[in-house]
Amino acid sequence: MFATLLHEIPLQGGDVTDGVVRVGDTVRRPARSSTPAVHALLRHLEAAGFRGAPRVLGFDALGREVLTYLPGATGVSPVSVSDGALADLARLLRGFHDAGEGFPLARGGWDGGSNDDAPPEVIGHCDLTPANVVFADGVPYAMIDFDQARPTTRVFDVVTTLRHWAPIADPVDRHPLLRGVDVGERLRLFCDAYGLRPRERRRLLEVARLRFHRSYEVMKARAAGGGSWATLWDGGAGERIRRASAWLDAHEDRLRAHLV
Ligand SMILES: Nc1ncnc2c1ncn2[C@@H]1O[C@H](COP(=O)(O)OP(=O)(O)O)[C@@H](O)[C@H]1O
Ligand SMILES: [Mg+2]
Repeated sequence: MFATLLHEIPLQGGDVTDGVVRVGDTVRRPARSSTPAVHALLRHLEAAGFRGAPRVLGFDALGREVLTYLPGATGVSPVSVSDGALADLARLLRGFHDAGEGFPLARGGWDGGSNDDAPPEVIGHCDLTPANVVFADGVPYAMIDFDQARPTTRVFDVVTTLRHWAPIADPVDRHPLLRGVDVGERLRLFCDAYGLRPRERRRLLEVARLRFHRSYEVMKARAAGGGSWATLWDGGAGERIRRASAWLDAHEDRLRAHLV
């Protein structure tokens, strides 16, 4: 037991899950109610030949899920905010959605519903923050942390990604490296690289607004239960959503001009 603990390297960067550790070439994470659904998805992706997600190795003696460790860097960096990285990320998301085709959308067990009112068409990652994308040699090549995955629409998952990466955020809440970027231009770049259809591009800002509203309510409800959600909320998560929503309202016309 002592020897095992010595080899556990805590992994930081995520906000939510306590106890994520690296052991050799594997990652151990506490299992949750959605873990069986996530494992079924990861196995489907592996069988489809998608290489941008960890592989499932099973469970360890402590009941934690065991996934492959994906080498590289996560988080915001000069390279991760480049236009080239944004386009690569869009292609990674597209590859993920396409590889998920054929996975039964009716399978339950996820940690929440679609959040979009249109019928689900893919399994979305739904939490593609900078901490959940792995870069190697400046290229975003994998996504991790599928805790929020669920059936949804392509445009909803595009919006959740752009929320962090365009970003759709008030400049005061952005990482300094993303404060001066042209968000409208980055929305267009991402949608072009993804190959988002015109009908979905027209819905994008409306879906962003819907998402702000729903994530505010969901986070508030989760924060009431205490734990890491309460810490996030007390750290101003709700206020940041409100500011982002107001920023979107103020810039909507200009942003829309880039999309359609
Ligand atoms: N399979 C993996 N390969 C490489 N790094 C990982 C892997 N899983 C997690 N990490 C690292 O650990 C951090 C936190 O893990 P994550 O699964 O995102 O948990 P959280 O729920 O806390 O966000 C990530 O930001 C990443 O840096
Ligand atoms: Mg994470």
